[in-house]
Amino acid sequence: MKIVTVIGARPQFIKAAVVSRLLKKQSGVEELLVHTGQHYDDNMSEVFFRELEIPAPAFHLGIGSGPHGQQTGRMLEAIEKVLVETKPDRVLVYGDTNSTLAGALAAVKLHIPIAHVEAGLRSFNRRMPEEINRIVTDHVSEWLFAPTDAAAANLRAEGRPEEAIHLVGDVMYDAAIDAGRRTGNEILEKLKLKPKSYLLTTIHRAENTDDPVRLHNILKAFHALNKEWQVVLPLHPRTRALLQKSPALANLAECLRVLEPVGYLDMVALEKNARLIATDSGGVQKEAFFQRVPCVTLRDETEWVELVELGWNRVVPPSSVAGILAAVKEALHDSQAKTPPSDLYGGGKAGAAIVSVLASANKPG
Ligand code: UD1
Ligand code: UDP
Repeated sequence: MKIVTVIGARPQFIKAAVVSRLLKKQSGVEELLVHTGQHYDDNMSEVFFRELEIPAPAFHLGIGSGPHGQQTGRMLEAIEKVLVETKPDRVLVYGDTNSTLAGALAAVKLHIPIAHVEAGLRSFNRRMPEEINRIVTDHVSEWLFAPTDAAAANLRAEGRPEEAIHLVGDVMYDAAIDAGRRTGNEILEKLKLKPKSYLLTTIHRAENTDDPVRLHNILKAFHALNKEWQVVLPLHPRTRALLQKSPALANLAECLRVLEPVGYLDMVALEKNARLIATDSGGVQKEAFFQRVPCVTLRDETEWVELVELGWNRVVPPSSVAGILAAVKEALHDSQAKTPPSDLYGGGKAGAAIVSVLASANKPG
């Protein structure tokens, strides 16, 4: 069986590393990786291939950045050519980026069955590009690998067939367990950071970076928090580009510990030793919980609702500086988080569950 996997953005490399490693061990399965080139800086792409020993992509499409229509359209054209040439039995896509959407659209038009890892997540906010990408992908995929009960319920509510829905858990939990075993504290030593003396932050979502008021509020809050804590900010290139254009934003960030994006093993070490994490990342809010570090999510909503229900995460819209500071204060001082069920996020076996379904010969339905 031939599987073509389409990936292109940072979190997809981390997720695919888990499944690709297991697919490699599966007899009778050949996986070809297609890298769309959506992310291309060494520290947004290659570093993950090196650290996580991901096989070199069979095809690198080199698409790069651009407006949504152009970026997705270029990917679609290039992926179609790869699929026509390689004739896979299945196409595997991850998450909710433009690379996910392009991979799914190219495959469904060629009648190639699609497997979607991280199916069913919903913010119910259609202004998010990711929400559109997820909905479309889930409605053209044949295997829907849901990471949580809530995600599986969303798929049922949208009428996706029961036999297509596989509640397998979250491959990012598998990835975090593996990284936790392999990472040391070198990054803390290099940055002269003491465990639990700093707040770890990340910002990259379009809804925050493309809204000058929200981005200003976030940086102003980080600036204020930095008086008591060190605020460490590995900066996504999207956000760095905006800071470079605005002296007011750059001034606010000047006192923070701004870093280039770090590799995954260093990121896990920074997460594990942080006193608190404030982020708008989907992946990082879960990783905070995996390391049992309190988290404040700087968004209007989250797809990972179970962490909010259990008290491990607080969602605060960055519409006011005071609101962000209050949420951080609360998260720092409130230790009322509930013990999670042991199988939340699949107990580290999501990758194995996905491979077992994928490798079985039959199509659903
Ligand atoms: C994308 C995903 C988002 C995901 C994020 C993970 C979409 C619509 N968005 O957002 O869901 O959370 O990846 O990080 O697919 N850039 C560089 N170097 C790079 C990559 C990007 O400089 O290697 C800069 C460019 O200025 C580019 C901007 O970042 O225009 C945005 O990149 P893009 O891939 O379009 O979106 P992300 O914000 O990374
Ligand atoms: N990450 C990383 N280095 C960084 C920032 C994030 O390795 O400097 C990892 C992080 O640990 C998580 C993933 O990238 O596994 C999340 O990616 P991102 O926040 O870019 O995207 P999202 O999850 O929001 O789609």
